[in-house]
Amino acid sequence: MEQYVIKGGNALKGEVNIAGAKNAALGILAASILTDETVIIENLPDVSDINMFIQAMQSIGCMVEHIDRNTIKVNAIAIDSTEVDEGYMKKIRASYYMLGALTGKYHRAKVVLPGGCKIGTRPIDQHIKGFKALGAKVDIVSGNVVIEADKLTANDIYLDVVTVGATINIMLAAVLADGKTIIENAAKEPHVVDVANFLNSMGANIKGAGTDTIRIRGVEKLHGTTYSVIPDQIEAGTFMFASAVTGGNVLIKNVIPKHLESISAKLIEMGCEIKEYDDSVRVISEGRLKKTNIKTLPYPGFPTDMQPQGAVALALAEGTSLVTESIFENRFKYVDELTRMGATIKVEGNTAIIEGVEKYTGANISAPDLRAGAALVIAALAADGISTIEDIHFIERGYEDFPAKLSKLGALIEKVSEEKEVRKFILRVG
Ligand code: UD1
Repeated sequence: MEQYVIKGGNALKGEVNIAGAKNAALGILAASILTDETVIIENLPDVSDINMFIQAMQSIGCMVEHIDRNTIKVNAIAIDSTEVDEGYMKKIRASYYMLGALTGKYHRAKVVLPGGCKIGTRPIDQHIKGFKALGAKVDIVSGNVVIEADKLTANDIYLDVVTVGATINIMLAAVLADGKTIIENAAKEPHVVDVANFLNSMGANIKGAGTDTIRIRGVEKLHGTTYSVIPDQIEAGTFMFASAVTGGNVLIKNVIPKHLESISAKLIEMGCEIKEYDDSVRVISEGRLKKTNIKTLPYPGFPTDMQPQGAVALALAEGTSLVTESIFENRFKYVDELTRMGATIKVEGNTAIIEGVEKYTGANISAPDLRAGAALVIAALAADGISTIEDIHFIERGYEDFPAKLSKLGALIEKVSEEKEVRKFILRVG
C-alpha cells in the first residue's frame, strides 16, 4: 500500500511554488460546461479530485484535452447526458457543482449525493433551497439529487448558513436564468470570487462576489474564454505552517498574500516572522513557537481547512492553546494520531485544548482526511525519528507533488509502495 515515509528533524529551507486552487478549479471546471464554445483553463492543479472531476465531465460527452500538465481545453458542445455516473461523483464533494452547472444550462440534472472528506454531516439543503427558489423541482431519489425545471427564473435567496458550495452552485444555476438573482449572506472565500470572475470572463453579469451580497443578472448565453485559476490558499498555508513547525525559512511563491492574512496573523502570534511580497510570502521560524488560540470562521476568518495544520503547530508551542472548530463538527479525527506522536490534546465539543509539548516522536499513522493528512505530514517533519503515513490517497486529492515539493525544501520524505522500500529509506537516511 502506498505511504509516505518521513524522517523528521530537518528545518525546511528554500522556495516552493504553489499550485492553482483546487476548490476554485472545481467550480471553474463545472462552470466551463455552461458554454458550447471552447474554454481554456490554466494553472489547474494536477490532483486526484480535479482529475476525477474531469473524468466525470468526459463521461457525459464533454471534450477535455490536456494542453500541458496544468492547462486544459474544454468544449461542452457534445454533452449528451445530464446524468453523471456515481462512480466518479461519490468520492468528491464538489460533485454537487455538476448540479448547478447542468441545471443552469440544460434545466435538468441527476447526480449522486456528494461524498468527500467525512468531516461532518455536510448537508446540501441550502443548495437545494437555491435551486428551488430559481423554479426547479428537486427530488432525492435512491441517493441521487434529481433536478428538473421548465425554465429558471431569478429570485432573492437568503442563505441560512454561510456556505461556499451553495453560493457557487447558485451562481452556476442563475447565470443563464431570466432576471436578477440576489444571494444574501453569500460566502466570501477567494474561490467564490474566482468562479465569479471566470463566469464574468465568459460573459456573465455577476457583481458583488467577495461581499455577502452577490447580484447575478441572467444573460442569454456565455462564450469561450481563457482563464488562469488563482493560487491555492490552503496549499500555501500548509507550507507556511510546515516552515513554522520545522524552524524553517521558506519563501512561498505564486500566492496572493491578501488571501493568507488570517494565517499570517496566527503565525505572527506564534512568534514567526512573516515577510510579504507582491506574490510571495516568507515564513521564518526561530526558537519555540508560542501559544495562541485559533477559531475557524468563514473567510476572511481562519479557514477550517487550515485547522489541523494550526493544531499541529500549537501542540508544539509553549503553553496551553485552544482551537475551536466552528464550521464542521467532526474535524478533530487526527487528534488520536497526533497523540500517538506525543501531543497532549483533549477535545471537548468543538474545542481542542492543547498543552504544548517540546517534541513529537515518529510513529506509524494514517491520514484520516485530506487536510488532516497534510497536517500529520507536517508533524512527522518536525518529529524525532521515522514516521510512516498511510492512506495518502486523501492527501493526493488536494496537494500536487507534495513529497517532491517538501524534499526540495530539505525534508526527508519519500512515497513508497512496499515495506522493503521503507527499510531502504531508513538505511539511506540513517
Ligand atoms: C467547501 C470546501 C471545503 C471547505 C469548506 C469551508 C470545496 C470542494 N470544499 O466545502 O474544503 O472546508 O468549503 O470553507 O470547495 N452547510 C449547510 N447546508 C448546506 C451547505 C453547507 O448547513 O447546504 C453547512 C456545512 O455543514 C458547514 C458550513 O455550512 O457547516 C459550510 O459548508 P460549505 O462552505 O458549504 O462547505 P463545502 O462547500 O462543503
